[in-house]
Amino acid sequence: MIGRLNHVAIAVPDLDAAMAQYAGALGASVGPKDDLPEHGVTVVFIELPNTKIELLYPLGEGSPIAGFLEKNPSGGIHHMCYEVEDIAAASEKLTSEGARVLGDVKIGAHGNPVIFLHPKDFNGCLIELEEVKA
Ligand code: CO
Repeated sequence: MIGRLNHVAIAVPDLDAAMAQYAGALGASVGPKDDLPEHGVTVVFIELPNTKIELLYPLGEGSPIAGFLEKNPSGGIHHMCYEVEDIAAASEKLTSEGARVLGDVKIGAHGNPVIFLHPKDFNGCLIELEEVKA
């Protein structure tokens, strides 16, 4: 069911420093900051030849990233995002197999529908599924 790895998301304590590091020391193509108030995050995408890296920084009160950074002050891998062709079908299949879908379908950073799956059901890894039409 899952397709390509769309991105790996890293929560960062200093977004400007992380952007500078990826653009400079790592020599990557770093995109602009994008505020996503519905998700409580500011995101920056870094294009790699075979996937993307998503830098995540807290936005607003009660951001889910703020709690993560409290536990991981130097930052850390926050989630993996896999592509699926049909988010509703994927959600139904996973629910029927006992996985916990966190919240409702939302519109993600690329304007596509996304869902998140409980990390305790997936080896401690928070999983984002993004609907990407082939
Ligand atoms: Co993501």
